[in-house]
Amino acid sequence: MTAEAPVSPRPADRPHNRPTDAASDDETSLDKATSRAVRSRSLSLLGNLLRPHGKGLTWAGVLVVASTAGQVAGPWLVAKAIDDALPALRDGESGLLISVGVAYFVAAVVAGLAIGAYRVAAARIAQTVLLELRRRVFRQTQRLSLEFHESYTSGRIISRQTSDLEALRELLDGGLTGVVSSLLVMVFTFVGLALVDWRSGLVLAAAFVPAWFLTRWFQRKSQLFYREQRTASARLIVKFVETMTGMRAVQAFRRESTTEAEYDRLGQEYRQANLRIFGVNGRYQPGLVLIGNVTVVVALAAGGWRVLGGTMEVGMFVAVLLYVKRFFQPIQQLGMFYNAFQSAAAALEKVSGLLAEEPTVVEPEKPVPLPAAKGELRLEHVRFQYGDGPVVLPDLDLTIPAGQTVALVGTTGAGKSTVAKLVTRFYDAPEGQVRLDGVDLRDLASRDLRRAVVMVTQEAYLFSGSVRENIALGRPDASQEDIEAAARAVGVHDFVMAMPDGYDTDVNKRGGRVSAGQRQLLSFARAFLADPAVLVLDEATSSLDLPGERLVQHGLQTLLADRTAIIIAHRLSTVAIADRVLVMEHGRVVEDGTPEDLIAGTGRFATLHAAWQDSLV
Ligand SMILES: Nc1ncnc2c1ncn2[C@@H]1O[C@H](COP(=O)(O)OP(=O)(O)OP(=O)(O)O)[C@@H](O)[C@H]1O
Ligand SMILES: [Mg+2]
Repeated sequence: MTAEAPVSPRPADRPHNRPTDAASDDETSLDKATSRAVRSRSLSLLGNLLRPHGKGLTWAGVLVVASTAGQVAGPWLVAKAIDDALPALRDGESGLLISVGVAYFVAAVVAGLAIGAYRVAAARIAQTVLLELRRRVFRQTQRLSLEFHESYTSGRIISRQTSDLEALRELLDGGLTGVVSSLLVMVFTFVGLALVDWRSGLVLAAAFVPAWFLTRWFQRKSQLFYREQRTASARLIVKFVETMTGMRAVQAFRRESTTEAEYDRLGQEYRQANLRIFGVNGRYQPGLVLIGNVTVVVALAAGGWRVLGGTMEVGMFVAVLLYVKRFFQPIQQLGMFYNAFQSAAAALEKVSGLLAEEPTVVEPEKPVPLPAAKGELRLEHVRFQYGDGPVVLPDLDLTIPAGQTVALVGTTGAGKSTVAKLVTRFYDAPEGQVRLDGVDLRDLASRDLRRAVVMVTQEAYLFSGSVRENIALGRPDASQEDIEAAARAVGVHDFVMAMPDGYDTDVNKRGGRVSAGQRQLLSFARAFLADPAVLVLDEATSSLDLPGERLVQHGLQTLLADRTAIIIAHRLSTVAIADRVLVMEHGRVVEDGTPEDLIAGTGRFATLHAAWQDSLV
């Protein structure tokens, strides 16, 4: 999707099958090469965003040049008036003074009108660019694989989408347009001055030397400090989001004071980072002002000397002073702008890092069509690990015929959810194949894959909106009858009808709030309606009470009929409806058979089952 070069800042240690830390929030201490790569990544993103606006930018450029020319003409016209037109008037010749006056007026009007039009044109481009960037960040976060989202915290994504884009907005909205015109004013003023009086031009040029060194120092410091500030700000947001999402755990375990202390510490760090920035600004800006004032004094002294000596006319002297003063006027503004600029540059680095991330699960170039999957699943010598972590599945070889209901049980951490994530292709296994109806999942278009394979997890997320919309998530065009039929099939229809507005009840409004178990039933209805060939339930029945589960047992059977199903459950009652039970341990299948056979045997499942039976009496 993104055309910008995906420059990874740490190409060397980018491990296989793992998202880079490209947009990590710990990019404060970058080495030179990485820093350059990050910068070129930002710049290429910027170029990419601005490319479609070539015409608009040219127009804005014309306007700002016209306005600047108008402004810079002023002092020269003043010199003309004093040195030529006034003497001419004394000789009874008023024509020149009138033309100079008219020219001054025209220049002022042109400068004013053009600067207004320029601001509008630039703002229009800036807003479009921002919108595009916002869209890209959102699109990218949806495009990136689950692997990315499991390692990149939502708080960091949120700070990309909020504070980083905000920093860019501040730059584009406020400073940038003004600074472009200020810079142009400085350049034009310098050129104008050098043209009317090259000696004064030299004085101004000499002032560049200390200004340049001061600016270099400032750039180096502030770049570092601004990166630190962005990092500190992101950490603060991450902490906040984490605390808010985990509020139940925070309150349940009375962690308030600890989280508060932690938040306070991060807040202090943010404050320190800001103070460091103000520290360098506090030296840079007055430094520039000092250089400016000294230059004005030198120009004044040198010019006055020459006027006294008769080698410079008074009008020219006035013009020189006006030029030199005007040259240094925007410098304060430039210093202020540099803040916004640094902040935005740091933000752009982070955003471009996010945009440069590549999904680890990629669409096939030439997908194998699979319009109607039967649902046979085969895992062939699958070996899997998360990133460069320990091996989770050493060598899994497994065939699940179409239509079979398989219960996957085993100890915590055995790798059951990992199998679920592989057969639904949220992850790709680096070794071995996962096949649906003989086709490698990596060769299936995600449309076909997602239609054929659906996973329901414990979270059973409900989006804001009506119950109807939530059930129809996988088939937005489903009719009311279909939606109701799905709800009936899993036994949730009566419950929905008892809600204030039935199927139109908003799940986020009072009265629309549902319990964890009800949410799971709704997500079953959602899966039933999507009607996939393969259904994976990862602890999707864990929140149902036993009667609820029995109620849903029937629904489950309806849901699972005619399709391949993998049910991961700790509850053995759920397992009873399976055709086949797989017991996993340390990433291996250690028992495989019908529930009856396994119960009759002496293996782990038999022991588990016996213990469960005992617990029931
Ligand atoms: N996103 C992840 N990144 C890194 N390691 C992971 C990730 N998810 C799981 N693991 C590791 O992989 C192993 C298998 O995890 P998995 O979630 O598949 O277990 P499980 O059998 O589903 O366990 P449970 O019954 O507790 O859900 C665990 O050791 C876990 O630490
Ligand atoms: Mg699990």
